[in-house]
Amino acid sequence: MNTNTLQQPTHEISSTHQSIIDQTVTYVKKMLEHDQTGHDWWHIHRVWQTALYIAKKEKGDSLVVQLAALLHDIADWKFNDGDDKASARVAQEWLASMGLEKESITHICDIINAVTFKGAGVESQIKTLEGQAVQDADRLDALGAIGIARAFTYGGYKGMPMYDPALEPKFHASFEEYKKHKGTTINHFYEKLLLLKELMNTSTGKRLAEDRHQFIESYLNQFFLEWNIVNENT
Ligand code: ADP
Ligand code: NI
Repeated sequence: MNTNTLQQPTHEISSTHQSIIDQTVTYVKKMLEHDQTGHDWWHIHRVWQTALYIAKKEKGDSLVVQLAALLHDIADWKFNDGDDKASARVAQEWLASMGLEKESITHICDIINAVTFKGAGVESQIKTLEGQAVQDADRLDALGAIGIARAFTYGGYKGMPMYDPALEPKFHASFEEYKKHKGTTINHFYEKLLLLKELMNTSTGKRLAEDRHQFIESYLNQFFLEWNIVNENT
């Protein structure tokens, strides 16, 4: 017996499925090409590649992971009248039009519904490995140098002040509260970004989060160092 066959990956992608992935890439690129909110095509691209990396390490279903990652921000609740199911609905229609099998569509839409961050105190547990890989990849993109850049891009877009010493960070007990809250970009680091490391699902995600978390901590130390020096000198 040829032992090489035993080392084949468990989740080979058929040419039909590969074609669905390729068409989804084109579709998502087109839909998000003018996004200025941190959900541009390159965010999707990074989440897609990171989720794929995690899924390979942890042996998840590559088709489901790739399609869920590609479609996870296709319609954001923050820009759809607070409708947090908008992305899953758009994804469902798109994947059905591509002729993807029903169970895969359901799994992908469940993942998309679950990855949306709903506030620091709100549980958002994902049970499948595929969902965990996508959620970890999405969270990793909110950390590190890129995460910092995205936070300030979002804050600028929303007209939020970067920092205000009079405003305390707020830990949101419900998704409703998190949706309504207005604050500063620096507070967002305490309300979301610094909490993400502990929320990683997979061991690969945890490992990748470590450096990016530390980078944010040093960034904040430097930020407050500069802020306080300026204040002392004025
Ligand atoms: P995700 O891609 O994980 O779904 P979000 O939609 O929550 O991320 O946010 C997109 C980007 O904008 C993230 O990098 C996030 O940290 C940032 N962001 C979201 N809400 C705020 C906020 N209130 N202040 C600053 N940055 C924010
Ligand atoms: Ni995202």
